[in-house]
Amino acid sequence: MSRSNDTIDRIRDEVIKCKLCNLCTNRTNAVPGEGNSKATIMFIGEAPGRNEDEKGRPFVGIAGKILDECLDNVGIVRARTYVTNIVKCRPPNNRVPKDDERRLCNNYLEREISIVSPKIICILGRTAYHSMLGGASILGNRGKFVERDGRLFFLTIHPAAIIYNNKLRDTLEKDLRTLVAECSRLDIPI
Ligand code: URA
Ligand code: SF4
Repeated sequence: MSRSNDTIDRIRDEVIKCKLCNLCTNRTNAVPGEGNSKATIMFIGEAPGRNEDEKGRPFVGIAGKILDECLDNVGIVRARTYVTNIVKCRPPNNRVPKDDERRLCNNYLEREISIVSPKIICILGRTAYHSMLGGASILGNRGKFVERDGRLFFLTIHPAAIIYNNKLRDTLEKDLRTLVAECSRLDIPI
């Protein structure tokens, strides 16, 4: 649903009290997206983890720290971007969100995208890739741009993958440098 007077604050207010799907039953806090409502780049992860659930903010745990470091290293200022997730409440034991949960939560994501209207949507990992574009293998497609329905997407790995395999840090940074270079080529301020 897209309303002309819709705002990020309104979405936040709805998300924090949302009971549309079962994930509301186990959460401490729902985790709305955050950042610049006029961002040119939007990052989309999977779902809040433990730290995010405790704080009510996206990417503030270990994966968030890794994301912050990689953004820093390539010269992207996180506060100028917008960061959100496919679902806004933490799935039990960090399991992958189910199809119906993603579907029920999608109205918030679609509205975030329509308000922010980012020039590039950066997909972090396979869950977001699957939800947004029906993709399966993020490792096989990372580093690529995809245009779909008038939107430009960029595909990269989820920063949590780096917790288990530190070599992937170079991969994420390399991809983010590709993203920065494309922004510069397209005259997109970041
Ligand atoms: N992983 C995600 O996908 N999102 C977060 O907000 C934190 C960790
Ligand atoms: Fe609502 Fe999304 Fe949380 Fe489900 S995950 S309760 S749809 S905000």
